[in-house]
Amino acid sequence: MRILVTGGCGYIGSTTARLLARSDHEVVVIDDFSEGHRGAWDGELHEMDLRDPAKVSAFANSNAIDGIVHFAARAYVGESMVQPLGYWRANLVPVMNLCEAFPGLPFVFSSTCATYGEPDIARLDESLALEPVNPYGATKAAAERLLQDRAAADQGVYLALRYFNAAGADVFANGDHGEHHDPENHLVPRAISNGLGLLKEELEVFGTDWDTADGTCIRDYIHVSDLAEAHVLALDHLFDGKPSTVLNLGTGRGYSVLEILKAVEAATGTELNWKAAPRRAGDPAELVADATRAFEVLGWQAEHSSLENIVETAVNWHRKHPQGYCS
Ligand SMILES: NC(=O)c1ccc[n+]([C@@H]2O[C@H](COP(=O)([O-])OP(=O)(O)OC[C@H]3O[C@@H](n4cnc5c(N)ncnc54)[C@H](O)[C@@H]3O)[C@@H](O)[C@H]2O)c1
Repeated sequence: MRILVTGGCGYIGSTTARLLARSDHEVVVIDDFSEGHRGAWDGELHEMDLRDPAKVSAFANSNAIDGIVHFAARAYVGESMVQPLGYWRANLVPVMNLCEAFPGLPFVFSSTCATYGEPDIARLDESLALEPVNPYGATKAAAERLLQDRAAADQGVYLALRYFNAAGADVFANGDHGEHHDPENHLVPRAISNGLGLLKEELEVFGTDWDTADGTCIRDYIHVSDLAEAHVLALDHLFDGKPSTVLNLGTGRGYSVLEILKAVEAATGTELNWKAAPRRAGDPAELVADATRAFEVLGWQAEHSSLENIVETAVNWHRKHPQGYCS
């Protein structure tokens, strides 16, 4: 199949694009390089801003595509709080443009646990009502709804995959591909950069007085290669004529911020330089997936997501490429 991967020069998108290509799909990537890197993907590439309907429609008129995997988005909770309009445009308009330009095509959508908001239960499953507490989560919930309405009108099947915290580096790339954002806001790469002396400033731990065992937030870290595998299975599911649905992608096991820092200290052989900082608005104490449905529907479960493997693959990437794709 010829698959369009949007945001395929970004972190999760490029890992998935490489795996799809290895799975005998023909992969076409669109990226506008607002975050992505040319070094992340060396196959067919079109530079384009998906917010532009005319460009998306011209692309659709000259390219035969069998399925869409849509990663392109803005993805920072804090930024979304101060740029809500920009987030609505960035995260909803491309979905509308793609659906209009490619009527009827199977659509795999990058959603997020941020759609759930701050539920007060230990493990989140897909039956929970979506009550996002920030514009980022709200835009993703709205895009899911758009895809649901499109499917209900028989205008195209979809799978929305709600990732928990993506981390680690492509297990097939031997340290040559990994996470590179500028600025980097994610805990695992920030902690590793701190441990390797690449990030001079102190690491901030946002809240040490949460109602958790060690007082820091708990998240479910899912290896980027596990996410990529779920997308390959998701496309197979849709191409096999199976129904649209929504699935969590996580491990079901949470780690606190301090547990992550300890794992990074062990892997880098250093003591991290960190300080306690105030809680951030919109940060729930604990977000852990119930990923039972992903196993039932796709036969998917996390295989690369032990904390050791997440940290080890990411450290390997940061050691080999201290400036990310710029080195
Ligand atoms: N990283 C995580 O932990 C996480 C968790 C849950 C959901 N997600 C979702 O997964 C997806 C990928 O996340 P990521 O961490 O790989 O992000 P990323 O920023 O590394 O990748 C996004 C890519 O999309 C491109 N892009 C953005 N807007 C575009 C536009 N208008 N037109 C064309 N290209 C555009 C960027 O240049 C970038 O290459 C996002 O939709 C994000 O919301 C990520």
